[in-house]
Amino acid sequence: MRLSREELKGLMKKKLMRAGLKDEHADITAEILTWSDERGYHSHGAVRVEYYSERIAKGGITTDPHFEFKKTGPCSGVFEGDNGCGYVAAKKAMEKAIEMAKENGIAVVGMRNISHSGSIGYYTEMAADQDLVAISFCQSDPMAVPPGGTEPYYGTNPISFAAPTADGRKVVFDMATTVQAWGKILDKRSRGESIPDTWAVDEKGNPVTDPNLVNALLPIAGAKGYGLMMMVDVFSGILMGVPFGKHVSSMYHDCSKGRELGQMHIVMDPNRFCGLEQFKKNMSETCDELNAMPTADGYDKVYYPGERAVMRKEKAYEDGGIEIVDSIYEYLISDDIHYNRYDHKNRFAE
Ligand code: NAI
Repeated sequence: MRLSREELKGLMKKKLMRAGLKDEHADITAEILTWSDERGYHSHGAVRVEYYSERIAKGGITTDPHFEFKKTGPCSGVFEGDNGCGYVAAKKAMEKAIEMAKENGIAVVGMRNISHSGSIGYYTEMAADQDLVAISFCQSDPMAVPPGGTEPYYGTNPISFAAPTADGRKVVFDMATTVQAWGKILDKRSRGESIPDTWAVDEKGNPVTDPNLVNALLPIAGAKGYGLMMMVDVFSGILMGVPFGKHVSSMYHDCSKGRELGQMHIVMDPNRFCGLEQFKKNMSETCDELNAMPTADGYDKVYYPGERAVMRKEKAYEDGGIEIVDSIYEYLISDDIHYNRYDHKNRFAE
């Protein structure tokens, strides 16, 4: 099923409002979910709406949150999310970070007590759109096994980085610190497809290809990915004074309670370093050089991070719209808010 941007965003917004989100919050959430689906990040698009709707309907996302931003220094601040919608909190916190970075050269804005905020590349791209450089990190529920361990301890803890170029292109690096984001496994489940045996392990720690048997995800690059996921948790969790490591709430544990997640945005103004013009010129040059590199057998081109996501977006519209799994479309057009499928489920249930 292919949908236009307006149609998909409209259906998601309507469902989220039906679940209880107010207009502005549903609009921002649906916009960011559409941003993900149109770039082929289906793991963080419409597939999530039913879960969010259940959590909103059961009270686990505050529908009228008391957001509060406290500036703690010229370049730092803390955004209290009151367990409101994570998409809205992360967007508003990035707006603050952008404002402060323009004023003071650098801004470090942490968020406390927010719910899931989806594809975090959306927020770093906001800064690149304003000629700034940004990094964002956030916590997610424990799902990854540390090297030599037996239990999931850290989440898929993503990192995103974005920067502008001189010609409108943007580098948007946006990745989970596990081999695959959990949402990619959800997406494979929803499509009835198998997964490569390098993504995850079963209850006994053996590699699995059936996405329904996943019991823990593997960090990227062994101990190095494990170090990165710890660093993400330190910056966005321990530093924010919210639950950390294995104490981070599980997505499906109790949909009536706030998730208390942490996130951090760091934004820098190139004018405070080499100067904006030189920075953007050299960013364009580095992207051009990467694109021009001779390729190894079996590859058509060397891409810079985020390039393929933009190509997927352009191709989706050429092909008649954003591709959505039929069962998700059926849910979106139905009158049902949710099917009670997520609450109190094992973290790997859905
Ligand atoms: P991915 O594996 O599809 O891509 C990771 C990065 O590598 C991207 O920046 C992509 O542009 C780049 N890339 C991939 N192939 C490339 C190639 N051949 N050449 C150049 N660059 C290439 O992304 P992943 O790790 O599956 O994450 C998907 C989404 O899930 C992200 O938007 C992330 O923010 C989100 N996420 C959110 C979480 C949350 O709790 N909020 C948790 C984990 C992930």
